[in-house]
Amino acid sequence: MITMDDIVRDYHPTLRERSEKIEFPLNEELKNLADEMLEFIINSQNPEIAEEYDLRPGVGLAAPQLNIPKQMMTVHIPSDEEEEPFSLVMVNPRILSHSVKQTALQDGEGCLSIDEVYEGLVPRSKRITVEYYDVDGNKHKERFKGYPAIVIQHEIDHLNGVLFYDHINQDNPFGLSDDLEIFEENL
Ligand code: NI
Repeated sequence: MITMDDIVRDYHPTLRERSEKIEFPLNEELKNLADEMLEFIINSQNPEIAEEYDLRPGVGLAAPQLNIPKQMMTVHIPSDEEEEPFSLVMVNPRILSHSVKQTALQDGEGCLSIDEVYEGLVPRSKRITVEYYDVDGNKHKERFKGYPAIVIQHEIDHLNGVLFYDHINQDNPFGLSDDLEIFEENL
């Protein structure tokens, strides 16, 4: 199983690479990788397993964070009172279009590859349309909004060598504008 020891940390060069596209059909190694990445995220959200294996809780993981510069990423967002659990693996994702309106998590973002705290708002498009492939090679075109849209943008960034703190406005880390609002559920 994947543990924190497998995750490369900031300033590792792979985190700044553009990951390679994956060819289909997926080989066994990449199919297993998808399963293991998703398993890691789900385990990290289970307090007992997380404590036993010393996992930092996360909602997403991208292959370059395991020093594998290939375009694969996983997201798992647990259910709350209003939302069903949300879980997916994306291969070769591409953002086709995005809203002008931006949103940002009030407390900023974190990343399993970044141990330091970077304070400031991380602007994300409120809505995105993403084209991606599942592990079986089926092509999907899907719109995302709300928290999943934020997490997916964070993970797609990893496939392009971009880290969340790159988006923080250094001159005004908590500045808002007409097009940038603090994230509120269900808007
Ligand atoms: Ni990250």
